[in-house]
Amino acid sequence: MADFVSDFWSYYVIALSVFGIVFCLFVLISNSRRPEPTADNTTGHVWDGDIREANNPLPRWWMILFLVTVAFSIGYLIYYPGLGKFPGIGGWTSVRQYHEERAQLEASVAPIYASFAGKSPDELMNNPEALAIGQRLFLNNCAQCHGANARGGLHFPNLTDGDWLHGGDSEAIVETITEGRHGMMPPQAANFDSPADIENTAQYVLSLSGSATDPIKAQKGKKGFQVCAACHGPDGKGNQDIGAPNLTDKVWLHGGGLRGVMYAINNGFDSQMPVFGETFTKEQIDVLAAYVMSLSHNKKN
Ligand code: HEC
Ligand code: HEC
Repeated sequence: MADFVSDFWSYYVIALSVFGIVFCLFVLISNSRRPEPTADNTTGHVWDGDIREANNPLPRWWMILFLVTVAFSIGYLIYYPGLGKFPGIGGWTSVRQYHEERAQLEASVAPIYASFAGKSPDELMNNPEALAIGQRLFLNNCAQCHGANARGGLHFPNLTDGDWLHGGDSEAIVETITEGRHGMMPPQAANFDSPADIENTAQYVLSLSGSATDPIKAQKGKKGFQVCAACHGPDGKGNQDIGAPNLTDKVWLHGGGLRGVMYAINNGFDSQMPVFGETFTKEQIDVLAAYVMSLSHNKKN
């Protein structure tokens, strides 16, 4: 693992600390000399007409306390030099501490994951401990897009509705998490003669889910759907191999409605599910897949 404190920043912190200590000492020494005696024992500074600054030396106890803090800071710097990379006399570095804590954490969860090893997500789906860990991983890594309840939102699919862009069996979900997904629909406007044709085909698409508002336009737009059928299927039921959504089910990833469908035809989409194959171990991905599957499969629980 790469060290996260560069030499530069370690030197920077050391230099800044040494400078700070030397500066404090300098201020202390330059103020520690007994002041020149004056006739009325004041420095001559006057505030509000009658508040005068007495010409007294710094109190001894205060000086000693200050020296103690300077000595402490020097000791601290020798013990924890640079606060990052370079080991002090205690051998401590923040990088080493981080690695030790990571190793401890991994050792503590290893037996739990070992008990999952060799089990498929389908089996883990019935293991409450695996689902609890899966949920925690989900909340930390997936909820920002799919929502804490995994119901998704505009442009982010709902993972609880049993309606899958790329497939809902364990193999497909593991692949989705490991390799990410690309939901690619190129803009289609060039395949149409006029904006009216686009609207007609949009009405036809809406008719597939019983949502059309103009049956006559929908009928006219059927012909234009041929170019869509290549991906969405002749009946509009979609194709999970290329992530083309089912257009007949009223589940809309991108909003739906006449405007939504016309937007789709004119602009297309390029939606991305990030790759997590390098973030997680195989066991973690299986646990996550089990959790995701449980959201739609274990509806009874
Ligand atoms: C940066 C946003 C983002 C994050 C983070 C994210 N996803 Fe996704 N995910 C998406 C998008 C966008 C899609 C839809 C891709 C598409 O349109 O084909 C998606 C699709 C999916 C699908 C496929 C849904 C289907 O209908 O086939 C699954 C399963 C999934 N994500 C699970 C996860 C899990 C588990 C995590 C956490 C490890 C996660 N996602 C993190 C954005 C995200
Ligand atoms: C090359 C394949 C391809 C073609 C051709 C294609 N689509 Fe798509 N379409 C997709 C994919 C893939 C998605 C999913 C995009 C995503 O994941 O964000 C999609 C998404 C959509 C959506 C959004 C669905 C939702 O749930 O919000 C609509 C609407 C749509 N297409 C309509 C059409 C229409 C109408 C045509 C023909 C004019 C068409 N598509 C042609 C691949 C295609």
